[in-house]
Amino acid sequence: MFVKKVAVIGAGTMGTDIAYSLAVANIPVVLRDVDENALQRAERRMQDTIHGAVTKGRMSADDAQGRLAQVRFSSRDEDIADVSLAVEAVPERMALKKTVLKELDQIVPPLAILASNTSALSISEMADVTLRPERVAGMHFFYPAHTMKLVEIIAGNKTDREVLETLSQLSEELRKIPVVVKECPGFVVNRVLTASMAAIMRFKAEYHLRPQDIDNVITHRQLAPLGPFVLADRLGLDVVWDVSQTLEKAYGNRFDPGPELRDLVHQHRLGAKTGQGFYSYQNTSSIDGSEPRPLSAEQEEDLIDLFTLAALVEAVRIWEEGIASAQSIDVALRAGAGLPIGPLAMADQLGLDVVYQKIVHLEERWGDGFKPPSSLRDRVEKGQFGRKSGRGYFDY
Ligand SMILES: NC(=O)c1ccc[n+]([C@@H]2O[C@H](COP(=O)([O-])OP(=O)(O)OC[C@H]3O[C@@H](n4cnc5c(N)ncnc54)[C@H](O)[C@@H]3O)[C@@H](O)[C@H]2O)c1
Repeated sequence: MFVKKVAVIGAGTMGTDIAYSLAVANIPVVLRDVDENALQRAERRMQDTIHGAVTKGRMSADDAQGRLAQVRFSSRDEDIADVSLAVEAVPERMALKKTVLKELDQIVPPLAILASNTSALSISEMADVTLRPERVAGMHFFYPAHTMKLVEIIAGNKTDREVLETLSQLSEELRKIPVVVKECPGFVVNRVLTASMAAIMRFKAEYHLRPQDIDNVITHRQLAPLGPFVLADRLGLDVVWDVSQTLEKAYGNRFDPGPELRDLVHQHRLGAKTGQGFYSYQNTSSIDGSEPRPLSAEQEEDLIDLFTLAALVEAVRIWEEGIASAQSIDVALRAGAGLPIGPLAMADQLGLDVVYQKIVHLEERWGDGFKPPSSLRDRVEKGQFGRKSGRGYFDY
């Protein structure tokens, strides 16, 4: 389906940047909110962002005017009655999402697609309040949505294939990378990142380490662009806590981050936005703190194994559950989490036999969360060790 006009519902952090990305791709968009002030703030923010693009020479001033003219800030029903797609980005509450989707179902044309930018809620449950559940899907942009490349396109249990294709094509028009996934709590990126973050938080508590000691190893060894504690502080510890709670309920205690995160949230130390989190901040971008101390060689190796293998084990489970293909999982983690190599390709490269032994060791040390996934054991038993044997999670 050709997407000729889009409605974005909710002019907050995400909605504004999603509307901006659409406008920059020359797609007419209507940004809608219940709060008139939110619309005014959104308009100012978009002007600032596009002004930045002009200053950096990425766009001419004429072009910028033309692109911004694609956006209409309006809460009138008639302005969205002819859209091909509506993307909702209202706050993360199921009851509210249902109300908004029900309302949109009445206003937009019967064949229009309804998409949700939810980070964690069930697409199928939302879809069922509409008269068009097969035309409802998730379209999960990442923060900040105008620069992050990944879009997880989430299929609910009734979503038409054609809807997924349309949303994937649209994402490419926005110069983003779409990855189609089936719904599951956390989808791909948040599920893998949270599993790894929770494991590292337990490691920190066990060895009484400081956040900078751990973050320093992760970034120096180029395992990720940001250490887990800097990342958590940036995302907001309340958000990280909510997500880990949801995932712990869904999948068990491998998502338990331990007591420190809960205590910080209770003390309203929510990270960069409140000036205090795992780190203290002079302002949102500058961390106050002493230099990292090196870990012992043994601790450093344990930390690296834990960080990479917690992500790998979760990625393999996602693959085993048929949530996404091996290729999609790796692409999602490179584009959405900035990992230098996807976890499944990394396992194939290290050797699945080697990885299997390490995971057995982690299970003895850290418990059930590291139970080796059955597809990994099967491959090792069949002599499929990854790259060196020509077959692993990928073929070579
Ligand atoms: N912020 C992130 O980092 C991030 C990342 C990925 C996904 N998400 C998801 O995106 C969604 C939006 O998050 P956000 O951080 O942009 O929220 P936000 O609070 O910044 O913005 C939400 C906006 O929705 C408006 N709104 C509330 N009820 C409405 C209604 N009935 N109709 C129209 N507008 C309404 C609010 O006035 C507000 O302007 C959530 O589902 C969130 O989980 C957020």
